[in-house]
Amino acid sequence: MDSRVVNALAAGSVAAFLYLGFGGLGAAATDGDPAALVKQREQTMKSMGGGLQTIAKFVKGEAGSAADVQAAVAAITEASSKDPAVVFPQGTAIGTADSDAKPELWQNWPKAVEYWNGLKPATAKLTEAANAGDRAQIAQALQGVSKACANCHEDFRQKKQ
Ligand code: HEC
Repeated sequence: MDSRVVNALAAGSVAAFLYLGFGGLGAAATDGDPAALVKQREQTMKSMGGGLQTIAKFVKGEAGSAADVQAAVAAITEASSKDPAVVFPQGTAIGTADSDAKPELWQNWPKAVEYWNGLKPATAKLTEAANAGDRAQIAQALQGVSKACANCHEDFRQKKQ
């Protein structure tokens, strides 16, 4: 792939996540507290977003090594392997703490699960590409994962004001 194309792909992926802010990734103790469950979900999301950013920087040649990419892919894989029922427990829609999860996510639960499960094949491709260490292949797989994230966000995540 032409490196300008690779850069354009990476820029698109980064742009999609730039407005998101990636802060503290500590573990949250939940005890079934809805606010804590929201926080935990947001941390799961942030760890995936942070991973995508790391990979995008590598693809653009701005920063990072192949090892950083593999670590980022591992973080995305770990987060996306969580049970969707654990990531999106009932009672954590908009109105709970600072949740941006639309109630429609639970009203259309099979669709939400389908989106969540869509992360698996996309992430598997990214793992393959990262293991091969091929920049263009990584760029393309990154785009695939980014799309899988966006599919769900479009339907079920309230945009930041
Ligand atoms: C099945 C639906 C779904 C999928 C798939 C999904 N997300 Fe999310 N994401 C959400 C929802 C809903 C929110 C809002 C969560 C909240 O505010 O409680 C969110 C919020 C976020 C946030 C903001 C977290 C915060 O601190 O407010 C980031 C970053 C994020 N997602 C990244 C990603 C990335 C990266 C992927 C793909 C690897 C992804 N998401 C896949 C539904 C999804």
